[in-house]
Amino acid sequence: MPTSPIDATTTAAWRDLTAHRDEFRGDLRGWFESDPQRAARLTRTAGDLHVDLSKNLVTDETLAILVRLAEEVDLRGRTEAMFTGEHINVTEDRAVLHTALRRPKGMTPALTVDGQDVDGDVQAVLEKVYAFADKVRSGEWTGVTGKAVKTVVNIGIGGSDLGPVMAYEALKPYAGDIELRFVSNIDPSDVAETVRDLDPETTLFIVASKTFGTLETLTNARLAREWLWETLAAAGAIDTSEESRNGAVAKHFVAVSTALDKVAAFGIDPENAFGFWDWVGGRYSVTSAIGTSLAIAIGPDGFRDFLAGFHTMDEHFRNAPFEQNVPVLMGLLNVWYVNFLDAHTHAVLPYAQYLHRFAAYLQQMTMESNGKSVRWDGSPVTTQTGEIFWGEPGTNGQHAFYQLIHQGTRLVPADFIAVATPAHPLRDGDADVHELFLSNFFAQTKALAFGKTADEVRAEGTPEELVSARVFSGNRPTTSIMAPSLTPSVLGQLIALYEHITFVQGIVWGIDSFDQWGVELGKKLAMEIAPAVGGDTDALSAQDPSTRGLIEYYLANRTR
Ligand code: F6P
Repeated sequence: MPTSPIDATTTAAWRDLTAHRDEFRGDLRGWFESDPQRAARLTRTAGDLHVDLSKNLVTDETLAILVRLAEEVDLRGRTEAMFTGEHINVTEDRAVLHTALRRPKGMTPALTVDGQDVDGDVQAVLEKVYAFADKVRSGEWTGVTGKAVKTVVNIGIGGSDLGPVMAYEALKPYAGDIELRFVSNIDPSDVAETVRDLDPETTLFIVASKTFGTLETLTNARLAREWLWETLAAAGAIDTSEESRNGAVAKHFVAVSTALDKVAAFGIDPENAFGFWDWVGGRYSVTSAIGTSLAIAIGPDGFRDFLAGFHTMDEHFRNAPFEQNVPVLMGLLNVWYVNFLDAHTHAVLPYAQYLHRFAAYLQQMTMESNGKSVRWDGSPVTTQTGEIFWGEPGTNGQHAFYQLIHQGTRLVPADFIAVATPAHPLRDGDADVHELFLSNFFAQTKALAFGKTADEVRAEGTPEELVSARVFSGNRPTTSIMAPSLTPSVLGQLIALYEHITFVQGIVWGIDSFDQWGVELGKKLAMEIAPAVGGDTDALSAQDPSTRGLIEYYLANRTR
């Protein structure tokens, strides 16, 4: 393991990219007109994903230098370091092994890290999760009154929430009869609204927290436990004795965590807890036991298919030559846009309603990973790092923010994602609605790439004074990702694709993409400020004037 990252900005490739950028003129119209093979040459396949990179602002030369950059920062070596369990999460001195979570059973050679049989550990937890999921799904697992589970409420936040909720929403067509709900926010409205219409006798809570120390999750878990006790008691199902209450918790609460001692302290039987390991980052944990709620919804077979999709992309990323490697190329394109063409944000625009939480999920993955100002050896970064990821499903976004992407002053690279076969092949009279939907996808990427010139606008008979307002400059870069349909495997491939894109960018920037120290200060201050919010005058006077003023406003205006 080297003692400091390679500084990408000192490489020959970086120097060449800088010179290349200085002469660069994006010309997607011209490039496509003069090169009929451009689309075919710049389209790649990874697993089931068909990825058209041709509408990006790159020439063959750009891509060739970017690939050289990947070689010069030793992307291959760092990738192997990740897959083999080196402690590449330097600031936390941990291996980074989310890829081990989806290695198929019996894969050789077996993976042993820090003396641990990683494959054996992973398979043992998976078997436990699958057995539990089967029991819940079949009705063998019952609540305290003997009724089968109808609703599973996952209580978690960040990586212990976003992955399961996004995947559940995406895979609804594969879900069985058990409904999943999610509580994450410490705003009490979240838990109150989530349980409001639930029957406690048929509700199972999964408390999902890697650390089992997260304020939001533990507070919500206690609120849920109170609700369970109160509502079961009101129904005459339990009494207020400790034994009766503990019995209810045992049948209605399970946990997912790396801290099984804290799970026991909460009152959840460790028998009903599913473990994972410190080498799984929260935002990379959906394929660990954190996915238990999802495994209940889509069943063990669906979950296996989900894991297999991740593994397909893992293998592609680990083994494909850089020129063919989709996560490598997409990560390098992002570096090109951020560091050479001054892009500040990146839009992810799924043309699939089931992916409506995908951008929110990616926000944690990408921005908690790469929103860093120091490199993994503690030295300052030498260039801009993580861009802002955002997005909404098409076509909703078209009627909201696409104006800026088409005609604004900022460069917003965008990924468009769609599937060929819809879950609901509905027709509107003669029209196949999915075809209308996809037509929008194709039209948007086309308009962004090729725009509309002033002459074309004039030729439509537009009055001269409106011509400039109706011109589309084009040269707005997009990547188009398509798949046959949104199966669990395809979703796994998509998620793993973005995991590895994020990794590639982090390697170029020399940062530790697997720590998240930036979330700590706010958490600590919240605990320090809480007494002031509760009316403690000493704590209040210790606050800065702005914070004090806000708390005073709260104290003066609250009604209870
Ligand atoms: O927001 C910080 C963070 O640590 C995330 O990285 C993590 O996913 C989330 O909090 C939840 O943490 P835990 O799973 O330990 O409750």
